[in-house]
Amino acid sequence: METLQGMKRDHHCGGLRKENVDQEVVLCGWVSRRRDHGGLIFVDMRDRSGFVQIVFDEAAMNEGTFHKAESLRNEFCIAVRGKVRARSEETINPNIETGDIEVVCTELRILNKAKTPPFYIQDDVDVDEMVRLRYRYLDLRRPEMQKNIMLRHRVAKIMRDFFDRHGFLEIETPMLCKSTPEGARDFLVPSRVNPGEFYALPQSPQIFKQLLQVAGFEKYFQIVRCFRDEDLRADRQPEFTQLDIEMSFMDQDDILTMMEEMVKELFEKAIGAEIATPFERMDWDTAMDTYGSDKPDLRFDMPLMDISEYVKGSEFKVFNSVLAGGGMVKCIKVDGYADIPRRRLDDLVKFVQIYGAKGLAWIQYTEDGIKSPFKKFYSDETFQQIAEATGAATGDLLLVVADKRLIVDTALGQLRLEMGKERNLIDPDALRFLWVVDFPMYEWSEEEKRFKAMHHPFTAPRDEDIQYLNTDKMGEVKAKAYDMVLNGVEVGGGSLRIYNAELQEKVFESLGLTPEQAHTKFGFMMDAFQYGTPPHGGLAFGLDRLVMLMAKRSSIRDVIAFPKTQSARDVMSNAPSEVDAKQLRELSIRTAVKKKENSQEQG
Ligand code: AMO
Ligand code: AMP
Repeated sequence: METLQGMKRDHHCGGLRKENVDQEVVLCGWVSRRRDHGGLIFVDMRDRSGFVQIVFDEAAMNEGTFHKAESLRNEFCIAVRGKVRARSEETINPNIETGDIEVVCTELRILNKAKTPPFYIQDDVDVDEMVRLRYRYLDLRRPEMQKNIMLRHRVAKIMRDFFDRHGFLEIETPMLCKSTPEGARDFLVPSRVNPGEFYALPQSPQIFKQLLQVAGFEKYFQIVRCFRDEDLRADRQPEFTQLDIEMSFMDQDDILTMMEEMVKELFEKAIGAEIATPFERMDWDTAMDTYGSDKPDLRFDMPLMDISEYVKGSEFKVFNSVLAGGGMVKCIKVDGYADIPRRRLDDLVKFVQIYGAKGLAWIQYTEDGIKSPFKKFYSDETFQQIAEATGAATGDLLLVVADKRLIVDTALGQLRLEMGKERNLIDPDALRFLWVVDFPMYEWSEEEKRFKAMHHPFTAPRDEDIQYLNTDKMGEVKAKAYDMVLNGVEVGGGSLRIYNAELQEKVFESLGLTPEQAHTKFGFMMDAFQYGTPPHGGLAFGLDRLVMLMAKRSSIRDVIAFPKTQSARDVMSNAPSEVDAKQLRELSIRTAVKKKENSQEQG
């Protein structure tokens, strides 16, 4: 192999333009593609900035160099000295930024050879994600992945600049801490020097950032890794990054307005998107009622509509029993889809069942009249009334679910998204921001038969609802909590906090904690609250999710350099893995699991 001695890179591949014609340049990078035309070899050379075409002309260079060029293979790492020349009219390639020029090589160094990669290093390759993750360093060479990672860098930089300009301090908080209650399971870390005791990795810096307000820093932010041991999805990783924010002496409006400004600046500077402020604000009840989701995708409309009053009091048992039991009958209208194939309707029945609905009914307003599984139970007049109430015209389809409120809303909300996709109602370029506000303070846990905090236990209840804490009206208490939603994805969430020790105690009690349990878990925080705690509040954004949406990807794995699989593994290094018995002994730990034969990813 050769060295770089005497070859100093002075240009980047993707940056060469017509203006560079006749200049001698030195480039470093990788062979992306090689085409051999006998006495003429073309190489697409790639570095971080893009591609340029290198020409090796047997007639115009020494024999040794040409032979070397013949030995080039994809992904060899090379350095090239050469002269930039304009391409002839018919060889100009308008598809690449350097397509007007090429570099005629005079000197070639092979800095390193490469094995044949397991997949082509190019965009839009159809490779199993497991293979991409195993060879992540090669996957990351692909231009689209490089762009995503560079975008991520830019996003973090713009955020830091914004908060610095607005007087915020970036303050680090511990990674080894006492568990913070965000509702997921903790990752635990055993303490060697304190046998039998464990740290938790932070689910978020929530308590610390509040204590920084007690400490008088007033405006805090941090780009910080958070850890949650929960079931993974396309937009969930066990470790992910938050833009975490907390501030004192601000009301909810101040916070939302400033965050809109930050997001506007971020999208404009990072991807050149124009964002209109203020964002729409919708209370949680309306979001659930109208869109069946606390993170509605407003890129298309299709609201959920209640038709209970039109269908009540008939012979149709399904609707009758639901309405008698306090449930409701709601529908969505899918324009121009009255001709939906019967097979597809059968699929949709199965689809809503995933979300707990027992069934699905429909009304097809066709040219040949009404088609509906409950047609025989209602008069034409009723179908006419429903059409008027929902705005359904000939050619339209209503999809109907009857059940308890939460099930109807959830199932129809999901069906709405499915129909939005199926009917192509979603503009992929739209950016629809929304604040969802006035969240319920509590949600009922059937499993544990108790109320849990919907956001986290430090969230302040609305002043007028404090009287209902620890009464039978708990379920109706609303919190000073808010989420930012973009295109149906929750990109951030936060709240105004409780800053009074008595109220905090009352809320712990409402969550079923005895004073002793509250003291053991949060005593240090309750103590701190005795020393002149300022009113404060904040929120955290999911940085991975923001970058995913900016890069128009459907998984946050595409914007994280080294993400984990669905089963929380790093398939490249094969973590997690077993450790030496000696390591365990030092930590005073014994596992109940037998040694595994092979701890490879199971798929
Ligand atoms: P929350 O739990 O809502 O709030 O988290 C804030 C934001 O972080 C993102 N997020 C995730 N992203 C990727 N993978 C995950 N597993 C994951 N979990 C959450 C979401 C979410 O909106 N301490 C509070 C904030 C506060 O009250 O200030 C908190 O962590 O985009
Ligand atoms: P069944 O009496 O269960 O055969 O249901 C008769 C029809 O009612 C079915 O074809 C479905 O279209 C519809 N249906 C059943 N359950 C529901 C439900 N929970 N919501 C809406 N429609 C339903």
